[in-house]
Amino acid sequence: MAYKDVYAAWKSDPEAFWMKAAEAIDWDRKPTKALFDENAPLYEWFSDGLVNTCYNAVDRHVKNGRGDQPAIIHDSPVTGTQATITFAQLQDKVAGLAGALAAKGVAKGDRVVIYMPMVPEALVAMLAVTRIGAIHSVVFGGFAANELAVRIDDAEPKAVIAGSCGIEPGRVVAYKPLLDKAIDLARHKPEFCVIFQRDQQSAELIEGRDFDWNDIQKGTQPADCVPVEGNHPVYILHTSGTTGHPKGVVRHTGGHLVALIWTMKNIYNVDPGDVFWAASDVGWVVGHSYICYGPLIHGNTTVVFEGKPVGTPDAGTFWRMIEEHRIKVLFTAPTAFRAIKREDPKGEQIRKYDTSSLNALFLAGERADPDTIQWAMDVLKVPVIDHWWQTETGWSIAANPMGIEPLPVKIGSPSVAMPGHDVQILDEAGQPLPAGSLGAIAIRLPLPPGTLPTLWKAEARYKKSYLEHFPGYYETGDAGYIDEDGYLYIMARTDDVINVAGHRLSTGAMEEVLAGHPDVAECAVIGVADQLKGQLPVGFVCLNSGVDRDHAEICAEVVKLVREKIGPVAAFKLAVVVDRLPKTRSGKILRATMVKIADGQDFKPPATIDDPAILDEIGAALKALGYPHG
Ligand code: COA
Ligand code: AMP
Repeated sequence: MAYKDVYAAWKSDPEAFWMKAAEAIDWDRKPTKALFDENAPLYEWFSDGLVNTCYNAVDRHVKNGRGDQPAIIHDSPVTGTQATITFAQLQDKVAGLAGALAAKGVAKGDRVVIYMPMVPEALVAMLAVTRIGAIHSVVFGGFAANELAVRIDDAEPKAVIAGSCGIEPGRVVAYKPLLDKAIDLARHKPEFCVIFQRDQQSAELIEGRDFDWNDIQKGTQPADCVPVEGNHPVYILHTSGTTGHPKGVVRHTGGHLVALIWTMKNIYNVDPGDVFWAASDVGWVVGHSYICYGPLIHGNTTVVFEGKPVGTPDAGTFWRMIEEHRIKVLFTAPTAFRAIKREDPKGEQIRKYDTSSLNALFLAGERADPDTIQWAMDVLKVPVIDHWWQTETGWSIAANPMGIEPLPVKIGSPSVAMPGHDVQILDEAGQPLPAGSLGAIAIRLPLPPGTLPTLWKAEARYKKSYLEHFPGYYETGDAGYIDEDGYLYIMARTDDVINVAGHRLSTGAMEEVLAGHPDVAECAVIGVADQLKGQLPVGFVCLNSGVDRDHAEICAEVVKLVREKIGPVAAFKLAVVVDRLPKTRSGKILRATMVKIADGQDFKPPATIDDPAILDEIGAALKALGYPHG
């Protein structure tokens, strides 16, 4: 069937489309219907089914004869180690840890926070939690103690599972002191912690609260899979919004399973047994959907990579990975390819390796710039597929469905809407715009299975953030247009979210940290264009009157503060002191105008600007930081 027929089949009968897709999942009790719309505009999928995620990701493959197939390949150039875990071994590991958690009282519906580096045990922990019907909340290792504390307070976990350390090139990041500090800072105290001790650095355990990963499993029985309702949350994943308080995206079990398994063949075009590598981190949605759940549910071998595209040890690492592990599909963020291209512009490294197993490269997480796509196509000689999605949706809103029908690639576009998504471009009044017009990108409700049904303990915020601006639609927060052929173009965010190396960050959160510095009266953080990371945050601070300290010292202090409070992942390294910030007469800071100045774009000061002269001061401050480039 052609893509347009598949999309039309979904549109004419979504219920039949998703019930058919649900047949690929092993249910303990089949759902009687797909969509549950009794509480519209809140929607749920497969709510009256009974099912277990871990069973579908692990146990059923063992039962069906895949026990000896590698489930996880771990490749860690930063520790110089490799390991392979078969589905049968994974089942033992997961059931063992799940049994230990259950013995300590973790039960269906309890939350467990996971704070782990890129080791297979991160997946074991996620699967063990879902095995017993508990709900995980994974926190990315590059976040600092404060961010971990915020997530602990939001999820209120019974337990935390953490690694003793992570490895970044040139340094060992001790996770345990960060965890201890987070628990100190948090209002909610978990009952216990499970610590996976790594050879590179072990952690000191707090008697009575902390348990060693292996010790806690001694004398306990492996746990069986606990069937849960289709609308039982499988996980919570926090993501950045406009404010400093992250949004806890909820994922329901049934829709998650059905949507992900559908994508593995239809979008990525892999078959069970193929090796699938998402070079991301389990702390992000890409890691949830395509390092852990998608490939495993579909019976693929997944790859857990602990390294960087460059410097571990060189720009040939990705090609070595493809050759050694016979990788069929690679999925990463464009920033990784920009890093490789910068180091090896002629693609000399790739000639040293046999990358013939690779069928396609998929890019997501940030805008894929045409130069990078072209370069990747030239060196890899396979289709390079941009696709667009969000933490909230959990899978592609728009993609090129390689398993249905490879569509012509239009460089600069993540291609077309996937079944389930009726994507519209809206004007400010919420009216659909014709092809070619730029506007807010929205998806007509209901969103498909696998997407967020609400925010954790924050239904009102869910409605306010996503549903109220354009009644009847989900507001994506992205702006763009659709061309005459139905191809989407994602141009910018409509809020204060920025994207740094594929990591979604809130400038509002950074502003809250800067405002906390005792000498800072007022501040603004903007995202400026960066050749490597896509965007980089730059902070502007106005000082309290009477402060006559060295500006460079204050800037160094605010940089340190963001690293301490949010974490190194914020990549906040540029700050400057200014006398005043440009504002409208009603006091709104003109961040968008500041971004244009930094990026060297033409701009017209808004008519409502209070004092246009301030823009010259901002221009001078940016010039001192080296912006605009070139
Ligand atoms: N634990 C602790 N620290 C971490 C971390 C983790 N899991 N992940 C990243 N960091 C740190 C890095 O060490 C770096 O610290 P530094 O300021 O001391 O150098 C900082 O956070 C920023 O990290 P990152 O943005 O990843 O940049 P980098 O300089 O380490 O690497 C690239 C540069 C371009 C190679 C890199 O950005 C890249 O490929 N990132 C992967 C993109 C990605 O997977 N995105 C996920 C969405 S799909
Ligand atoms: P995250 O929730 O971290 O996955 O970030 C989602 C946001 O990243 C989207 O709302 C977009 O702003 C951006 N994004 C993700 N994928 C793409 C893409 N393929 N092209 C352009 N922007 C993207």
